[in-house]
Amino acid sequence: MKTLDAFIIEKQAEYPNAKGALSGILSSIRLVAKVIHRDINRAGLTNDILGYAGNQNVQGESQMKLDIIANDTFKHALMAREDVAGFASEEEDEFIIFDTERGRNARYIILTDPLDGSSNIDVNVSVGTIFSIYRRVSPLGSPVTLEDFMQPGNKQVASGYVVYGSSTMLVYTTGNGVNGFTYDPTLGEFCLSHENFQMPHNGKIYSINEGQYLKFPMGVKKYIKYCQEEDAATQRPYASRYIGSLVSDFHRNMLKGGIYIYPSATTYPNGKLRLLYEGNPMAFLAEQAGGLASDGYRRILDIQPTELHQRVPLFIGSKDMVEKAQEFMTEYK
Ligand code: AHG
Ligand code: MN
Ligand code: MN
Ligand code: MN
Repeated sequence: MKTLDAFIIEKQAEYPNAKGALSGILSSIRLVAKVIHRDINRAGLTNDILGYAGNQNVQGESQMKLDIIANDTFKHALMAREDVAGFASEEEDEFIIFDTERGRNARYIILTDPLDGSSNIDVNVSVGTIFSIYRRVSPLGSPVTLEDFMQPGNKQVASGYVVYGSSTMLVYTTGNGVNGFTYDPTLGEFCLSHENFQMPHNGKIYSINEGQYLKFPMGVKKYIKYCQEEDAATQRPYASRYIGSLVSDFHRNMLKGGIYIYPSATTYPNGKLRLLYEGNPMAFLAEQAGGLASDGYRRILDIQPTELHQRVPLFIGSKDMVEKAQEFMTEYK
């Protein structure tokens, strides 16, 4: 059995010039995952975890108490490090500058969706945490700027998620494949359980909120119909599975094969999911696992961001399924 810590140290040894900063950040994220795991697993036993916080975030969403707890846990864990210069989050209006001597000279920035699938938390359905790590592009010795956060996803140095499901797993990539670690609460350790795993090229599961069907682009409607037609050769009809948490649907599709779609619709003209801390980190993982991620037409990782909380339509999962959905989007829009 190999712990996450041992794995990080082992991988770092492959980069003799590495100063250990990224390893240190990943260790911090490990701690954040353990704290949020603990809070989620005792949520119903105290009054200060479940329910709404009573205010809205910059997205116009009513924040759950656990959105804020998860965000603050992440922020404070990173502030305690020497290696992080700035932080951006779904739950923070603006990016945060770690404006200390250490922060100004740190090389990395982190973006996060601290609690993904918030609507599930009060009903005991799985949720997640998503993170995305870049090297800063602004000069060392100065505070980070917006430019550091406006990098395309293809510049990420690492990304990952924690899925708080029937078990808690941390899954991440640093650009050399994807590895999954399952949390053993009796040890307090994340242990390597899914080494260098790949997403099946095809699958029989599609995930989309069909309640918005009437507002979907024609290409999405045509693809859904394709998924539902009988065809033994292509193993259709497929199964529809939609959990309401991107991390949970994506994790299942990573293991079993499948596609998750959150398209543009009149409610969300550019889709609901946020490019910087949902689309990009999951797209990096999908591609590292042999899958694809697009906005229906172009690679998510090549999109040049213009705003911190910009939204993007997301078609992500098994390569053959995303390519088929893109065919319908190209033909029907
Ligand atoms: P978050 O909870 O971080 O705001 O993200 C929720 C996202 C995604 O996780 C999920 O798949 C999707 O919103 C669900 O949206 P709908 O309820 O509109 O289907
Ligand atoms: Mn939210
Ligand atoms: Mn989310
Ligand atoms: Mn969230």
